Order: sequence, then structure tokens, then C-alpha cells
Amino acid sequence: MKEAVEKLVETACRALSGLEEDPKALDQARIRFLGRKGELAQLFKELGKVPEEERREVGRLLNVAKLRLEEAFSEAAQRSRDVEAARRESIDVTVPGRRPPAGRLHPITQTATEVCRIFNWLGFETVEGPEVELDYYNFEALNIPKDHPARDMQDTFYISEEVVLRTHTSPIQVRTMEKRKPPVRVIAPGRTYRRDSDVTHTPMFHQVEGLMVGKGISFGDLKGILTTFVHQMFGPEVGLRFRPSFFPFTEPSAEVDIECVMCRGGGCRVCKGTGWLEILGSGMVDPEVYKYVGYDPEEVSGFAFGMGIERIAMLKFGIDDLRLFFENDLRFLEQF
Ligand code: FA5
Ligand code: MG
Repeated sequence: MKEAVEKLVETACRALSGLEEDPKALDQARIRFLGRKGELAQLFKELGKVPEEERREVGRLLNVAKLRLEEAFSEAAQRSRDVEAARRESIDVTVPGRRPPAGRLHPITQTATEVCRIFNWLGFETVEGPEVELDYYNFEALNIPKDHPARDMQDTFYISEEVVLRTHTSPIQVRTMEKRKPPVRVIAPGRTYRRDSDVTHTPMFHQVEGLMVGKGISFGDLKGILTTFVHQMFGPEVGLRFRPSFFPFTEPSAEVDIECVMCRGGGCRVCKGTGWLEILGSGMVDPEVYKYVGYDPEEVSGFAFGMGIERIAMLKFGIDDLRLFFENDLRFLEQF
């Protein structure tokens, strides 16, 4: 029995050496020797079988062995913790850290900001207007009375008889002229809504409105400003054309097409084979509109335009499906 106790202590001490590198193995060893059903506990159980005259002595030896083992294990555990701490200190602090992924602006926001920046540079001030708009500003004061067929040009979300979700940013023209005396030169980005849904139309989209009114402003100014804008936005080599059009609030009116940026005018899916893409509507402000805001059409003249931001963004970034902008798939958005 005495030999068994001595042997156990010896085996345990040998088993312990080197385990400070391996906390798991150390724990297993502790359970093997000192656990409730461990080898030492086994020897304590056998104490009853020891002849009476030796039992006292063997019991003492067992208790001594227990103390020694506990001490040995607690020292090993301490060494194990020291090793771990040393390892932590040896972390290479010059290794570059992991960057938290940075958020960024949505491509539509980036595009609207870029459009406004170019017009700011041309002397236009950025203004805004409400998305929930009065019928009066969205239609009436833009020379589109209640029974006018032009209302069908823009299928409208009505909130009530008099309140709509604005179908374009043009009401901001009226709100601006109501508040300011000419000359005015403003650019107005924002969300717009129409009951429209297919591959190139979404029920919510973005426009940027522009308005310049003052003494002697001509169609030549309109062409100059918009041409400058297109060259700034897409590069000086991109072709553009002014195509006669109609809007109830401008006369004459023109839509501006630019050479399809995808196929360089050759014809593709995006431009439906024509080589051209419509980016905006524009024209000289109709004298009828001035009546609503108290401007004198004999005194002032000016032009306005409204462009689709999604359209511009598609061309700028070479994207051929409008819906990608609104699916909010991070794999798409992270590329901008
Ligand atoms: C207008 O909305 C006029 N207010 C533009 C204007 C302003 C003319 C000032 C004259 C003076 P239009 O409905 O064509 O016009 O829309 C202008 C642009 O918005 C279009 O060229 C197109 O790029 C974009 N657009 C129109 N509907 C949608 C839609 N459902 N989804 C995405 N883009 C659209
Ligand atoms: Mg149009």
C-alpha cells in the first residue's frame, strides 16, 4: 500500500511535466489523479482493507500525498497561466488590424449629389420641396388644370382630392418663384412618385429640377447650361441632342438625349437599339406659369429642366437594369 501511494505521487508528478503548454491536458490529468473517482480517491477507498496496525500510517501517507499532488497541480496551473500570458504578450502589434466595413452613399445619392455639385459650380443654389404635395403646386400652377389631358402623362398617387405624392420635382419651381424675386437660379433634387412599374420605370424614382429666370434668358442659355452639364457629367466627347417635345409648363420644350454610354451610339439593349437615351425634359418657362407666381412675363424669361437621376446613374455607372438600385443587395451597392 505504501508503495502504491509513493508510485501514484511519482506517476502524477511525471505526468504533469510539460502540461503547462496544454491547459486541457492539465485539467484531464487533474481529474485522473485528484478527481472524485480519481486514482487517489481509489486508494483512500482501499484504506479500509489495510490491517489495523498500519492503517494510521497509511492514512497519514495518503493525506500527505494528497497535499503534495494538490500543490503540484496548482503550481502547474499557475505555470500554465504564465505561459498563456506570455503568449498573449508576444502578439505582433505591427500586423495590420481588421478594418470595420465602412458604409457609403447609395449610388443614387452619389449621382444626385454630383449633379447638384455641377450646377452649384454653375451658380445654381440647391433647394428642396415636399414629397407630399398639393395638387395646386404639382399640376394647377404648372398650367395643368383639373380636366387637362396632360394629367394622364403622369399617373398619380392621390392622397386626397387636393393632396398627391408629387409626380415630378417641377412643383419646386412654383414654390421657389412664389418665395423669391427674380433673378433665380436653383437646383432641386428629390423623390418623385408615379403609378408606373416595369423594367425602366419604378413607382418611386428621383429627379433633379433646375430653374433659371431673369432678364433676357434665352433658349441659347438653356442649351449652353445643359450642354456644359452633360460634358461635365459624362465627358466632353459624349454627343447630345435636343429633341422637340411638349410640357404644359414650358414653351418651347425640348427633351435631351445623350449618346448611349453603353454602346457609344451603336445601339444596344439599354437604348433599345436607337443609340440615344433620354435623360431630361426642359423648356422655356411658359408665361402662364409666371401668372401664378406674380412674375411679369414682359420683364423676365427663363428656362427649367427636370432629369431622371436613375437614368443618369445607369449611364454613369454602366448599369443596365434600373431595379438593381432598389433591391439593396449589398453585393451590388458595395461596388460604388
Ligand atoms: C417631367 O417629369 C417634367 N417635369 C420635366 C420637366 C421639367 C420638363 C421642367 C420641363 C421643364 P418626364 O415625365 O419626361 O418629365 O420625366 C422626366 C425624367 O424622369 C424622364 O426623362 C426620366 O428620366 C425620368 N422618369 C420618368 N418616369 C420615371 C419612372 N417611373 N422611373 C424612373 N425614371 C422616370
Ligand atoms: Mg419624358
